[in-house]
Amino acid sequence: MPPLLEVSELYKAFQGRTSVNGISFSMEQGRCVALLGPNGAGKTTTLRMLAGLLNPGRGTILFDGKPIGQDYRRQIGYLPQSPAFYNWMTGEEYLIFASRISGMGRKEAAGRAAAMLERMGLAEAAKRRIGGYSGGMKQRLGLAQALVHAPRLLLLDEPVSALDPIGRREIMELLREIGRETSVLFSTHVLHDAEEVCDDIILMNHGVIAEQGTLNSLRAKYNRPVIALRVEQREEALQWLETLNTRSYILESRSEGEGSIFLKVKDMEAARSAILREAAERGIPVARFEAGSLSLEDVFMEAVGE
Ligand SMILES: Nc1ncnc2c1ncn2[C@@H]1O[C@H](COP(=O)(O)OP(=O)(O)OP(=O)(O)O)[C@@H](O)[C@H]1O
Ligand SMILES: [Mg+2]
Repeated sequence: MPPLLEVSELYKAFQGRTSVNGISFSMEQGRCVALLGPNGAGKTTTLRMLAGLLNPGRGTILFDGKPIGQDYRRQIGYLPQSPAFYNWMTGEEYLIFASRISGMGRKEAAGRAAAMLERMGLAEAAKRRIGGYSGGMKQRLGLAQALVHAPRLLLLDEPVSALDPIGRREIMELLREIGRETSVLFSTHVLHDAEEVCDDIILMNHGVIAEQGTLNSLRAKYNRPVIALRVEQREEALQWLETLNTRSYILESRSEGEGSIFLKVKDMEAARSAILREAAERGIPVARFEAGSLSLEDVFMEAVGE
């Protein structure tokens, strides 16, 4: 069976400036994938191409192994980054409208709209105008709109970024539920959001994919032992710190100033005993010695760091 979505060498430029620079990935049915990246990474541009709203400059998008065609739009649901609503409509009217657009008959549309309002916790607000909804309610209505026709793939552009912690929690919980029934691709600039609900991560920066894989594989790949070390700020101690990066058990070092250094090490036990022994031999007081491991957050920061 072909993957649900297969994207190859997708490219888009605006006025000669490249926004998405040849990205390739595939997504299996039933997965929840986070498109993670900082501002300007190209997430929205990518999602708009995947939603069929923007023509790719180059590259191909296959859905179920076939180029996206006429009926594609009915198979996907899309929630834009800043959805525009008709504020004079009620939530119910809006959802019936969205259902009718997707091709449902009057009766079916009314039924689906009512079910979605209930599911999104908007049943009581169904007959109120959208203009009076809170940000969280609008976002839940947006999610209802994207789901009302039971799409096979849900594309959500930063569904929680604009929300307060409570609204965010509500949407994340809904996403977790929805993720059990439908394939979901959603963008975020927060790794934590991705970790909360996703199986896979595509890390994007400057229009390219910096890293991709399952959360577990990325955690395993980047799980490196690290040491945070601080010594008293004395001349000889500071000099010693500077020479540490020549040791064979150290892969990488980054001076943090004020007698502090951050070390990526090959072998924690070897590094720990060697460093503490060297410090003792030189009579250098160690003010802090913290052994840990790199988190995916660090990887994310590193990948997107300038
Ligand atoms: N319609 C457009 N016209 C011109 N430039 C655009 C357009 N859309 C996007 N861009 C540019 O493409 C680049 C990527 O933008 P995009 O909106 O895809 O990033 P993003 O990852 O969604 O960022 P954010 O996290 O801020 O939403 C940016 O430099 C942006 O200015
Ligand atoms: Mg965006």
